[in-house]
Amino acid sequence: MDGRKQGKANVISETGVSITVPLVDYLTFPFDHWVVDYVVSRNDAINLASYVATHWTQNKNKWVLYNNDCERRKWANPNPHDIPGGSELFDGLSSKRFIDDLCEITGECQLFTDPTLHGAGFHIVEPDGYLAPHLDYALHPKIPNMERRVNLIMFLNGGSREDGGAFELWNDTATEVQGRVYPKPGSAVIWKPGDVEFHGTQLVKREYPRIAAAMYYLAPARPNVSRKRALFIPQRGDPSS
Ligand SMILES: [Fe+2]
Repeated sequence: MDGRKQGKANVISETGVSITVPLVDYLTFPFDHWVVDYVVSRNDAINLASYVATHWTQNKNKWVLYNNDCERRKWANPNPHDIPGGSELFDGLSSKRFIDDLCEITGECQLFTDPTLHGAGFHIVEPDGYLAPHLDYALHPKIPNMERRVNLIMFLNGGSREDGGAFELWNDTATEVQGRVYPKPGSAVIWKPGDVEFHGTQLVKREYPRIAAAMYYLAPARPNVSRKRALFIPQRGDPSS
């Protein structure tokens, strides 16, 4: 059942980026997900977003661009430690205390961080960019017998609802958006990826990019888990709707 629970201030670093789990909203439609306000403070998030934007503007060669029918104007940086505050953020998200919080939140208590940060790191979606609905890969491509079990996307900047850029939750055939989590700096959405958890990024309708951090948590692969690549469903019609 949906619900809200008061968490705890779980301060990882007094001087760097503080990771906390103060308040968790548990939502079950169209699939289980948790919205956490705030994993990092609004100020820390906005500062990080500015460092990320500067790094992206000045070092495009260190970012990977995805620009096709399914991933439009999306950039990823696989080395978050290059960016001021990046080490504190990802060390905090990798800490035992935070993983213990994830166990309490999601019920997944055999989680490991991914030392390769495969697919994780800082993500930017430019204006007019979006991510079509997709399922993530399940089996880790580089670490044998491990699967992605818990996903976390943290928003580092925000805006109004009219700006778009929401995390979208789709139905189990990827034909209809059934939920949106709008970016709020420092807040995160957490879910367990699987065979029907289609998700994407709403079109970014404003003039500056959407900036987020992504972290994925692994667990020993279950026998029925086999998807080795993400599965994208191209959007039909106008992605701005
Ligand atoms: Fe994804």
